[in-house]
Amino acid sequence: MLVSRLQRQNIPTLGIATMQQTLEELRKEPADLLIVDLQLPDGNGLEVLQAVKQLGMNVDVIMMTGFGTIETAIEAMKLGASNYLLKPFSLGQFELAINAVIEQRNLRDENRTLKERLAEESGSNPLLYRSEEMTRAMSLVKRVATTDATVLIQGESGTGKELIARAIHENSNRREKPYIKLNCAAVPDNLLESEFFGHERGAFTGATARREGRFEQANGGTLLLDEISEIPPNLQSKLLRVLQEQEFERVGGNRTLRVDVRIIATTNRELLKSVEAGEFRQDLYFRLNVVPLKVPPLRQRSHEIEFLVQEFLKIFAQKHGKPTPRISPWALEQLSAYSWPGNVRELRNYTERALILWEGTKDLEAADFSLTPSPTDDGLFPVTGNAFPTIADVEKRLINLALKKTGGQRTEAARLLGINVRTLRNKLHEYEGGRESDETSGKTDEAPASA
Ligand SMILES: Nc1ncnc2c1ncn2[C@@H]1O[C@H](COP(=O)(O)OP(=O)(O)OP(=O)(O)O)[C@@H](O)[C@H]1O
Ligand SMILES: [Mg+2]
Repeated sequence: MLVSRLQRQNIPTLGIATMQQTLEELRKEPADLLIVDLQLPDGNGLEVLQAVKQLGMNVDVIMMTGFGTIETAIEAMKLGASNYLLKPFSLGQFELAINAVIEQRNLRDENRTLKERLAEESGSNPLLYRSEEMTRAMSLVKRVATTDATVLIQGESGTGKELIARAIHENSNRREKPYIKLNCAAVPDNLLESEFFGHERGAFTGATARREGRFEQANGGTLLLDEISEIPPNLQSKLLRVLQEQEFERVGGNRTLRVDVRIIATTNRELLKSVEAGEFRQDLYFRLNVVPLKVPPLRQRSHEIEFLVQEFLKIFAQKHGKPTPRISPWALEQLSAYSWPGNVRELRNYTERALILWEGTKDLEAADFSLTPSPTDDGLFPVTGNAFPTIADVEKRLINLALKKTGGQRTEAARLLGINVRTLRNKLHEYEGGRESDETSGKTDEAPASA
């Protein structure tokens, strides 16, 4: 009766007779809600409850018990049941119990999404940098933040332009005011104007109600125009007007609205090239480019890759409830030499994946990051635009590798490398200061250097 009642409300419901089958079904397909009787042919409801909680299933449990067993109901609640029903109960009571659980569940989901969004927007996604290049960029950010100057952030995809834009807003006097983002590339051309400026009711087919645009929403605060190079010519002139006069009309409206908005624009193209190609208005370019901020690609600040990887590992270890793995020096070297066409975004994603797949025992190796090799890459020595390895680099890496493989045994390492021990020793001497030569010196029979 209860099953058909729920099905009539369009809640997909399955009726199951035994504890065994319940657990099997749950393993096959997760459910949101389990309504379980205390007495089952092959066990009891409390066991089911314990099992799903132990397995960490995200399922709510309502326990049905006979009149005489209120203690059991209390115990069920202690074990994590969401609600209970004392038999006999009416369909009204049944529905109340179900609705209460659904409501709790929705609140919990909503709470979780909000928390995730919050974490994404702040704490767990901090702007990390250590290189001189980024330090210089960030000191500019801090200086311009408190002015109302328009900032144009240019940089390859994944270099952190959005994080920087947010940092500008958060360091500005507008930080308590709205921070609104509009991705110009994500909105179809014909809807972009209404996204910008809003529309009046009936302005076009489908405009069933008046709608505020992003400029209005951002009033008093900051508006981030993401991927600015993508806006069509007719809108470029309208945008220019708002930037110059801070006023505009809604689509289909004739009232002129005034706003006070600070503009930050980003692009992953060379906007000046678009100007030269006649695709982007020059006057708009100058209006936007009051403070130009160029974010260097990661391969031009490869000396901070090691730092970024370590920080991301810490962040993701915490997120996924794992200890922070160590990463081998050889892997760090390879990560630093990789070209990172997707910049920090790519590094971040690769690091998270490596951490998720990490079994928690050995150090992370380069293979755990499964880098996509560049076309000129032979797999052993990653080659990037500006970091072509010299013969000395390659030799050094190869020697380090051999020493690592042999646990620092020089005689054995020399054999692997096909050179004699004296040559190896001379080379290590030459590369003095190299990690491996320091660590391993003294481990072996140091004969006096021969002439
Ligand atoms: N310096 C940094 N520190 C920490 N995380 C970073 C840094 N730079 C980029 N990221 C991360 O990389 C990802 C991409 O950053 P962001 O969205 O700011 O890039 P973008 O330059 O706007 O790229 P696109 O042009 O593709 O939109 C985000 O997850 C961001 O958190
Ligand atoms: Mg972006």
